[in-house]
Amino acid sequence: MSLAVGRLLLVGCGKMGRALAQGWLDTGLDPENLAAVEPHVGTAQLARDMGINTVSDPTELADDFMPDWVVLAVKPQVLAEVAPKFAGYAEISTYLSVVAGKPVAALRGLVGDRAAIVRAMPNTPAAIRRGMSVAFAGSGVKPDAKVACTALLGAVGEVAWIEDEASMDAVTAVSGSGPAYVFLLIEALADAAVAAGLAKDLALTLAHNTVAGAGELALTSEDTAATLRRDVTSPGGTTEAALRVLMADGGLPDLMKSAVAAAAARSRELAG
Ligand SMILES: NC(=O)c1ccc[n+]([C@@H]2O[C@H](COP(=O)([O-])OP(=O)(O)OC[C@H]3O[C@@H](n4cnc5c(N)ncnc54)[C@H](OP(=O)(O)O)[C@@H]3O)[C@@H](O)[C@H]2O)c1
Repeated sequence: MSLAVGRLLLVGCGKMGRALAQGWLDTGLDPENLAAVEPHVGTAQLARDMGINTVSDPTELADDFMPDWVVLAVKPQVLAEVAPKFAGYAEISTYLSVVAGKPVAALRGLVGDRAAIVRAMPNTPAAIRRGMSVAFAGSGVKPDAKVACTALLGAVGEVAWIEDEASMDAVTAVSGSGPAYVFLLIEALADAAVAAGLAKDLALTLAHNTVAGAGELALTSEDTAATLRRDVTSPGGTTEAALRVLMADGGLPDLMKSAVAAAAARSRELAG
């Protein structure tokens, strides 16, 4: 297996940058085709430990390193300061930005009006190559670049493309922030298990494995989640008693709708 996407320049080797890089290396990217810029000494060392040629500033990159892709993985707060340093690649590279809440138009304002830019939203399970990434291609991104980008993001999980950038706020609210909702579900289930009389260790084991196992079943089964739920709900049984509480007015479905709407609204605010 080899990831044939040309040369990559990774800007920012934090959690998401390293998760992506690990996925690329694991799927056969030649380390010679990857360079990274990361000013933080400790974080840069973590990247070097992965076999990535990492410099602290773009001026230290070899003059003949001409990337096909510039992958922006810095925090949104520093993007305006960092991205213009990489504007010189706009003629030869496609940019892939995983920076949350920054629209293509804002990125173009930083690297050039004609730059080819893909904006993507991955999520934290990318760290174990079980991520869900959603991508939007700005104008000027060629079809073969979209194919390469699907491979770049596909190295850490599933990929879906959207045609309307405005949907990115809802995407952020569902798959971007979604892992936190599931972690909360695990915490809440474990706390409820303790309240029901189980020891904490057992409560945590049950909560983790129930959520992980049910998630895997939902993903791999040919049945819908609704069918799987009905399958474990015998009339008059224990599950039905619990679901009556969870599905009452103001229960889990209503709460989830409000939570996703709040996250999407915040995403719109942050994009300014
Ligand atoms: N983690 C996620 O689940 C997730 C999901 C979707 C999208 N994202 C997006 O991915 C981006 C990175 O998130 P993260 O969680 O990986 O954050 P992070 O761990 O803080 O990583 C950002 C890295 O960029 C470095 N950096 C700062 N200035 C730089 C510069 N001038 N040149 C190159 N690198 C520089 C930071 O170094 P310092 O530590 O010295 O500042 C840090 O190591 C964010 O924009 C976030 O919105 C993350």
